[in-house]
This record gives sequence, structure tokens and C-alpha cells, in this order.
Amino acid sequence: MSMKFFQMAVVAIIVMSSMAGRCEAAEDEINCITCHRTVTAGHVTDWESSTHAEMGVDCSVCHGTDHQTEKDAGLARLPDESVCGECHTDQFEQFKKGKHSHGWNSMNAMNVTHLEPDALMEGGRGCGGCHNMGIKSESERQELKKKGYRYQNNSCDECHTRHTFAKSEAQDPRACQQCHMGYDHPQWEMWSSAKHGTRWFTKDSGNLPETATAPTCQTCHLPNGTHTNRTAWGFFGVRLPLPGDKQWADDRTIILKALGILNPKTGEPTKRLDVVKALDMARLTEEDWQNERNKMIQTCSQCHSKTYAETQLKQGDEMMKKADRLMAKAILIVAALYEDGIIQKPAEYEFAYPDFFYFMRTGGKSMDTMSHIDQVLFEMYMKHRMRTYQGCFHVNPDYAYWYGWAMMTKDLGEIEELANLLRKTHEGKK
Ligand code: HEC
Ligand code: HEC
Ligand code: HEC
Ligand code: HEC
Ligand code: HEC
Ligand code: HEC
Ligand code: HEC
Ligand code: HEC
Repeated sequence: MSMKFFQMAVVAIIVMSSMAGRCEAAEDEINCITCHRTVTAGHVTDWESSTHAEMGVDCSVCHGTDHQTEKDAGLARLPDESVCGECHTDQFEQFKKGKHSHGWNSMNAMNVTHLEPDALMEGGRGCGGCHNMGIKSESERQELKKKGYRYQNNSCDECHTRHTFAKSEAQDPRACQQCHMGYDHPQWEMWSSAKHGTRWFTKDSGNLPETATAPTCQTCHLPNGTHTNRTAWGFFGVRLPLPGDKQWADDRTIILKALGILNPKTGEPTKRLDVVKALDMARLTEEDWQNERNKMIQTCSQCHSKTYAETQLKQGDEMMKKADRLMAKAILIVAALYEDGIIQKPAEYEFAYPDFFYFMRTGGKSMDTMSHIDQVLFEMYMKHRMRTYQGCFHVNPDYAYWYGWAMMTKDLGEIEELANLLRKTHEGKK
């Protein structure tokens, strides 16, 4: 209650200071709404239903007052996260510490991003349609504007869509669906068809009591209303230091080489390790990893026994180890083709070695003639290895097995077969 009062006071100050010396401000506000009732009617009715309308957070609080007529719409300010942060300090500070704040920069850290059509990046479809989740620097914003891309300045509206900006929407797991689905991170599909999700839907349709438990994405990943999201293994499923198990450590080393984080020749870290560090792409110490794991086990323990939860997550780690074995075998087969000059290093590549940072545009003589075996290898890593362990962690049997592990096995077979063929063809040409 007192928090609400404090926030109201803050709003009053911000709203008043933005009006300072401008007695016509209230009139502007009426103008915004009156005119926009015809120009963008849906936005006005959405805003009218929001807590913001109730609290006097009007159009001009976020968009400023420079734009006043049909002819100067370009003067309207499009607010970034820091504008929301002026009133919602806690959420903004938590968001900055979480992985979501890096979405834009991690997309741009991939070599492939700079080969793909702008509409799919800056334009906010394709990669950019999901990775607009993330804080852009002032210079990045200027750059985008110069290229003619004006929108997508705000990440907060990815879960609390405009202009309702509702808490209840962000608490619904469907708020995560658009981005956490599909090719390489089908968490939506995994959760919604596993027991945790099916219980949530069953409850939602009234077939389980109100008090029935059913963990959502938010229960496990944004516990207690935090805006800091971060997991132990992260997306790439690698971490430092390397595992104690010798075979696993060797397999991991090979994967890190294919990620270009270790130099394939010397095993020394490359410049990419700095990127991984800066964007928090992997946990770099055992303690950091264990800390995230402990938090997760605590969450599971709201419902399950601690031992049960620990056992389940250990099985996920164990599957990751097995998946890494298959992965390393496959990488070595393709790497040997580079080594023997059967596949030539593309000019763009740093090393004559598979490079996963090019996604499907991977391998071959140049980027115009991509090598199929490299693509099979990439898919094995990005689609099937992900599904194997993500499926385990999200308790989804079919993703873990048929869409994950079984496909990895199939990929390895295909890679062996393709490598044999390539070698025979190469011999024939000599
Ligand atoms: C006289 C009518 C009128 C008034 C008054 C008005 N607008 Fe607009 N506004 C428009 C029109 C027309 C557009 C452009 C719509 C389009 O591009 O199709 C627009 C666009 C916008 C945009 C989108 C800008 C963009 O780049 O797409 C925002 C935000 C906006 N107005 C906010 C406001 C705010 C805040 C106020 C009050 C300070 C306000 N408007 C007052 C007519 C008006
Ligand atoms: C709490 C802040 C906030 C308030 C209040 C607010 N907006 Fe917005 N509005 C946003 C954000 C965030 C965007 C998206 C900016 C971007 O894409 O970079 C946006 C985008 C827009 C756009 C352009 C995008 C589109 O879908 O057409 C229009 C027009 C607009 N707002 C009109 C209004 C009007 C009219 C009001 C008042 C009834 C209003 N806004 C109140 C935050 C706000
Ligand atoms: C001028 C201050 C101010 C600004 C700027 C502002 N808000 Fe708010 N917002 C409030 C107040 C006050 C409330 C009501 C108290 C609360 O729930 O925190 C609120 C409530 C909310 C809620 C909870 C609504 C609910 O359903 O209970 C969300 C979500 C929210 N704001 C998101 C945003 C986002 C996103 C932005 C930026 C685009 C933004 N706010 C900008 C003042 C502001
Ligand atoms: C459908 C939405 C979506 C699309 C399209 C998409 N991504 Fe992602 N991306 C995500 C999500 C969600 C994650 C986090 C997944 C996880 O942790 O399991 C992610 C993770 C990543 C990461 C890892 C970040 C980290 O720190 O671990 C990179 C890099 C990345 N994406 C780059 C790209 C590039 C480049 C493209 C286009 C070629 C792309 N993404 C397309 C949603 C998307
Ligand atoms: C990944 C989704 C997601 C994003 C992005 C997001 N939020 Fe939220 N937000 C949530 C969830 C979930 C809740 C509900 C938390 C709870 O259950 O108490 C919430 C709640 C809120 C509330 C209401 C707090 C309360 O208890 O009344 C505010 C205000 C808010 N968010 C502001 C923001 C701001 C500002 C940003 C951008 C910096 C932001 N959110 C970005 C998911 C998100
Ligand atoms: C607009 C797209 C979008 C939405 C909506 C979205 N996310 Fe994300 N999420 C991403 C992207 C992109 C990343 C990867 C960020 C990076 O590159 O560091 C990510 C990363 C994550 C991670 C971090 C995994 C790790 O690396 O440790 C978690 C957990 C997560 N999201 C949970 C959620 C939850 C829960 C929701 C819904 C409440 C949600 N996300 C909504 C795009 C989205
Ligand atoms: C019952 C708890 C639980 C629920 C519900 C849940 N997750 Fe997870 N999630 C996990 C665990 C456990 C991990 C692996 C954590 C680790 O690395 O140790 C994980 C990992 C992730 C990751 C990182 C990459 C990976 O391994 O998949 C993302 C992103 C993610 N979850 C998103 C989501 C989204 C989105 C939803 C809802 C559709 C969701 N999760 C539902 C427990 C949950
Ligand atoms: C909010 C309560 C809640 C939380 C938190 C929760 N679970 Fe569950 N879990 C359930 C319920 C309810 C079921 C279904 C009970 C059943 O299968 O009889 C279930 C089922 C399971 C199952 C069995 C699925 C099956 O097909 O039989 C596993 C494994 C599991 N959870 C693991 C976890 C892990 C690991 C975590 C933490 C990452 C977790 N759960 C967090 C409530 C929860």
C-alpha cells in the first residue's frame, strides 16, 4: 500500500515536472486523446483500460509533447526502457542484470546476422523480431534511425504489451510463447505438452481446483516477481571451468572450438571469449553455475522433495554429457575434411574448422556455395542437441528422445555417410 503511495507521489512529480511552466499541458493531453481516438482508436481504448490511465500516466508522459498535429508525428518520442525505469526503478534494475537485457547485442555478436536481410534484423522480423528484447545503446539507436528503422525501442512491452501494460498479461505463460518456441528453443512446445503445462491448461479450463499447483515459465524463471532471468547452463549449454570428467572435458573442448571460442589449432581462447563474457553467455565459474542451480532446486522444492528435484536435474546434466559425446564425434569428422583439404576454408572463416557462428550459412568454399555436411552438423548442434537437454529439463519425454537424442544419432550417421562420399569423390578427382 505504502509502495503504491510512494509510486503515486513519484508519478505526480514526474508528470508535474514534465508540465512545468506549461499551463496548456492538460489541453495537449486532451488533444492527444481526442485526435488519437480517430487516428489510432485501439491504442486509446487499450490505454483507457490500463492502470496507467487510472494513475494519470498519459500519452505525453511517455511520448512527450513535441508532436501536436497530423503533420509532425515524427516528433513523438518513442520511449525506451529507461523511460519506464523512471517510475519502475526496481523492475528496470532487475531487468538490466538479467539475460533479456542482452538479446539485441547477442544477436549482433553472431557473424550470420550481418549476412542476412536487414528486414529480418533491424526490421524486427526473423532474428530481430525476438532479439529486440534487449537494451540498445544510444549509438545503436542512432545507427538504426539512419537506416530508417524507427521502432522497437522498448523491451518492457514484450511481456506487458502496449498500451494495456498489464501485470496479468506478463504472468500468463503465453506471454513468453512468441519467442521461446520453434527451431532451437521450443520451450513453449516442451512445457505446454508436458505435465507441468498440461496441468496449467487443465486448471485454466476449470477442470482442476483453483489451489492445484501448475508451474509456469514465470514460476521457475522469474520467481517472486523478479525481472532478472538467468539459468545455470544458459542457451549454449557450456560453461567454465571444463568438467572434471576427462572424456566430457575433451568433448567440450571440441565444441568450444566449433563455437570459435577456442583456437582449433592451439586450444587458446580467441576474441570470442570476450564476447561470451561481456554478454554473460556462459557461467564462468563453478560457484556461479551452482548458485543458479540451487535457486532452481529451491523453486522445484515448493512442490517436490529436494532429492526428487536434484535427481531430475542431474539427469539433464547426464544427457548433456552423452549428447556432447555424439556432438564431438561429428565435429571431428567434419574437421578432418577441412584438415585434408576436402572442404576449403571460406574466406570469412578465421580457421579451417567448422564455425557455428554462421548458423545455416556455414562452411564451403565461399558463402555462396555452402557445404551440406556443415549444415547437417550445425543442425545437429543447434536443433537436436538443444532439444535433447532442454527436453530433459522441461520434463518432456518426446522432445528429449525423438526430437532430440534420436535425431542426433541420425545426424551422426548421415555425417559419417556424407564424409565417406566426399572422400570418395575427392579421390576420384585426383
Ligand atoms: C491533430 C491530431 C493529433 C494530435 C493532437 C496528436 N496526434 Fe499523435 N498522431 C497523429 C497522426 C495523424 C499520427 C500519424 C499516424 C500515421 O502515421 O498514420 C500520429 C502519430 C503519433 C505517434 C506515433 C509516431 C510514429 O512514429 O509512428 C505517437 C506516439 C503519437 N502520435 C502520440 C501523440 C501524443 C502523445 C500527442 C499529444 C501530445 C499526440 N499524438 C497528439 C495525430 C495527432
Ligand atoms: C507508459 C508509456 C506509454 C504511454 C502512457 C503511451 N504510450 Fe504509446 N507507446 C509506448 C511505447 C513503449 C511504444 C513503442 C515504441 C517503439 O516501438 O519504439 C508506443 C508506441 C505508440 C505508437 C506507435 C506504434 C503503433 O503501434 O502505432 C502510437 C501511435 C502510440 N504509442 C500512441 C499513444 C497514445 C495515443 C497514447 C495515449 C492514449 C499512448 N501512446 C500512451 C508507450 C506509451
Ligand atoms: C510517470 C511514471 C510511470 C511511467 C513513465 C511508467 N509507468 Fe508503469 N505504472 C506507473 C504507476 C504509478 C503504476 C501503478 C502502480 C504499480 O503497479 O506500480 C504503473 C503500473 C504499471 C504496471 C502494472 C500494471 C498492472 O496491471 O498492475 C506495468 C506492467 C507497468 N506500469 C509498465 C510500464 C512500462 C512498460 C512503462 C514504459 C513503457 C511504464 N510502465 C512507464 C507509473 C509509470
Ligand atoms: C522466435 C524468436 C527468435 C528468433 C527468430 C531468433 N532467436 Fe535467438 N534466441 C531466442 C531465444 C528465446 C533465445 C534464448 C534461448 C534459450 O536460452 O534457450 C535465443 C538465444 C540466442 C543466442 C544465445 C544468447 C545467449 O547469451 O545465450 C544467440 C547468439 C541468438 N539467439 C542469435 C540469434 C540469431 C543470430 C538469430 C537469427 C539468425 C536468432 N537468434 C533468431 C529467440 C529467437
Ligand atoms: C520477460 C517478461 C517481462 C518483461 C520483459 C518485463 N516484465 Fe514486468 N513483469 C513480468 C511479470 C511476470 C510480472 C509479474 C510479477 C509478479 O508476479 O509479481 C511483471 C510485473 C511488472 C510490474 C508490476 C509490479 C507489481 O507487482 O505491481 C511492473 C511495474 C513491471 N513489471 C514493469 C516492467 C518494466 C519497467 C519492464 C522493462 C524494464 C518490464 N516490466 C519487463 C514480466 C516481464
Ligand atoms: C520478445 C521475445 C521474448 C519474450 C517475449 C520472452 N523472451 Fe526470454 N529470451 C529472449 C531472448 C532473445 C533471450 C536470449 C537473450 C540473450 O541473448 O542473452 C531470452 C532468454 C531467456 C532466458 C535465459 C536463458 C539463459 O541463457 O540462461 C530465460 C530463462 C527466459 N528468456 C525466460 C523467459 C520467460 C519466462 C518469458 C515470459 C515471461 C520470456 N522469456 C519472454 C526473448 C524473449
Ligand atoms: C518446472 C520449472 C520450469 C518451467 C515451468 C519452465 N522451465 Fe525453463 N528451465 C527449467 C530448468 C530446470 C532449466 C535448466 C536450468 C539449468 O541450466 O540448470 C530451464 C532452462 C530454460 C532455458 C535455458 C535453455 C534451456 O535449457 O532450455 C530457457 C530459455 C527456459 N528454460 C525458458 C522457459 C520457458 C519459456 C518456459 C515456459 C514455456 C519454461 N522455461 C518453463 C525449468 C523450468
Ligand atoms: C508449483 C509446483 C511445482 C513446481 C515448482 C515444480 N513442479 Fe514438477 N510437477 C508438479 C506437478 C503438480 C506435477 C504432476 C504430478 C504428477 O505427475 O503426478 C509435476 C510433475 C513433475 C515430474 C513428473 C512428470 C511426469 O511425467 O510424471 C517431474 C520429473 C517434475 N515435475 C520435475 C520438476 C522439476 C525438476 C522442477 C523444478 C525445476 C519442478 N518439477 C517444479 C508441480 C511442480
